[in-house]
Amino acid sequence: MQDIIQQLAQKRRAAQLGGGEKRIQAQHAKGKLTARERIELLLDEGSFEEWDMFVEHRCTDFGMAEQKIPGDGVVTGYGTINGRLVFVFSQDFTVFGGSLSETHAEKICKVMEQAMKVGAPVIGLNDSGGARIQEGVASLGGYADVFQKNVLASGVVPQISVIMGPCAGGAVYSPAMTDFIFMVQDSSYMFVTGPDVVKTVTHEVVTAEELGGAMTHTTKSGVADLAIENDVEALLTTRRFFNFLPANNREKAPVWPTDDPANRVESSLDSLVPDDPAKPYDIRELILKVADESDFFEIQPGYAQNIVVGFIRLEGHVVGVIANQPMVLAGCLDIDSSKKGGRFVRFCDAFNIPILTLVDVPGFMPGTSQEYGGIIKHGAKLLYAYAEATVPKVTLITRKAYGGAYDVMASKHLRGDVNLAWPSAEIAVMGSKGAVEIIFRKDLGDTDKIADRTEEYRQKFANPFIAGNRGFIDDVIMPRDTRVRVCRSFAMLREKKLENPWRKHGNIPL
Ligand code: HXC
Repeated sequence: MQDIIQQLAQKRRAAQLGGGEKRIQAQHAKGKLTARERIELLLDEGSFEEWDMFVEHRCTDFGMAEQKIPGDGVVTGYGTINGRLVFVFSQDFTVFGGSLSETHAEKICKVMEQAMKVGAPVIGLNDSGGARIQEGVASLGGYADVFQKNVLASGVVPQISVIMGPCAGGAVYSPAMTDFIFMVQDSSYMFVTGPDVVKTVTHEVVTAEELGGAMTHTTKSGVADLAIENDVEALLTTRRFFNFLPANNREKAPVWPTDDPANRVESSLDSLVPDDPAKPYDIRELILKVADESDFFEIQPGYAQNIVVGFIRLEGHVVGVIANQPMVLAGCLDIDSSKKGGRFVRFCDAFNIPILTLVDVPGFMPGTSQEYGGIIKHGAKLLYAYAEATVPKVTLITRKAYGGAYDVMASKHLRGDVNLAWPSAEIAVMGSKGAVEIIFRKDLGDTDKIADRTEEYRQKFANPFIAGNRGFIDDVIMPRDTRVRVCRSFAMLREKKLENPWRKHGNIPL
């Protein structure tokens, strides 16, 4: 018996060494942690239960029969984050460059399947050279199996990808189908084809970092949600982020204890909106002043900055916030912000997270680049997402709510549950100047008349009361009371039940 126990210990030690000391040193020299070190940081101490440590690949070509490393390049299992169950896989770059073999894929699929059965999130730590080249189509099949699992798990359990090394070729499509992608700066990249192929095909000369690094994907492409400085920060951020998520689509996010009183009055909000309607202000200030303890986990802070999205808590309950940002492009809706907002709304709705919408929007962005780029279809994504959402929806109009954008931003007409406005709200088809220039076109030469008409239009429509008359706005509130009014609204909505008609699935404008 003693022998067998020793053998087991030896086998475990061998598996834990992955690709060996030299490759571990090489990994560290690049500023990267190993697959196991990452899991240790991500999970609660001592909580990791590893599966399939002794799995080996089945390839015999290209001398692979002689090169077997237990675990086959991915560490899988489950553990806890702040006591809550989570499944993980962590690709081990020291083993065949973390490349994905048939068995490597089977290990990932196994934890994903189990996560769906028990209703727990999956976190993937990606660091891989892609398909195991020696295995050919078996490896491609493995990828497709993972993709299929990603899709089946989508909307059932939250899926998070942390990109901590290479992620190229078709391999990018597994993270792309998860809910959130966090990337480590300077050591991770994602692209469909690398710089060499790009040079051959398009003659562009570009580095891997420029083509698919963390900054590229969090500012230009919008593929990733956060760029994080290093491995340690990325894992600690993922732990903090995890606390905002429910375990699955049947549960609510955990309630966090707070000492922040719901009736906290914020007098400074009375002067947040400048007197000049053309002057911007930072909508983040409002978010921070409303949130419990000013704790705001922002998603995609560097992309489509004309809309701000992220998670806060109100009286300990997680709420998703979507807010127009007057500081960028006057807060108008364009292609990128519609996609960013729409995707966020859908995540919240899929996982029972109530939505707070803060509106200051002058409309959709005009211009050929937007029209040619398909603003109609992309803007419709946000509209569709809001209209299909059945979670509690509380909306506050702080200033402008013009045109179609008024409708889109969780208006009463899209089943907004509680729609509030500050006294500074202006709810109209468009701004006064634009409106008068259209309806009094024949008087355009008469500046006095136009000025009078503009003032008349402003007086009539640049306020929240016309909408209030019709019940489109439930109340006009003092800015200082925003937190208490919004907290009360969500408390009232806590047991809200609303179902959409049965269907296989809707046809969101993709
Ligand atoms: C097998 C691989 C591998 C792979 C790397 N290795 N990628 N083995 N299959 N895909 C091995 C290397 O041979 C090396 O082994 C070890 O991993 C470390 O790799 P290095 O090249 O020394 O590391 P580095 O210099 O950091 O470069 C990393 C890299 C490079 C940029 C990822 O390895 C690389 O370009 N790999 C090939 C990438 C690729 O073309 N993959 C297929 C993409 S297509 P030793 O023994 O020397 O340590 C794809 C399709 C998916 O993925 C389709 C899904 C639908």
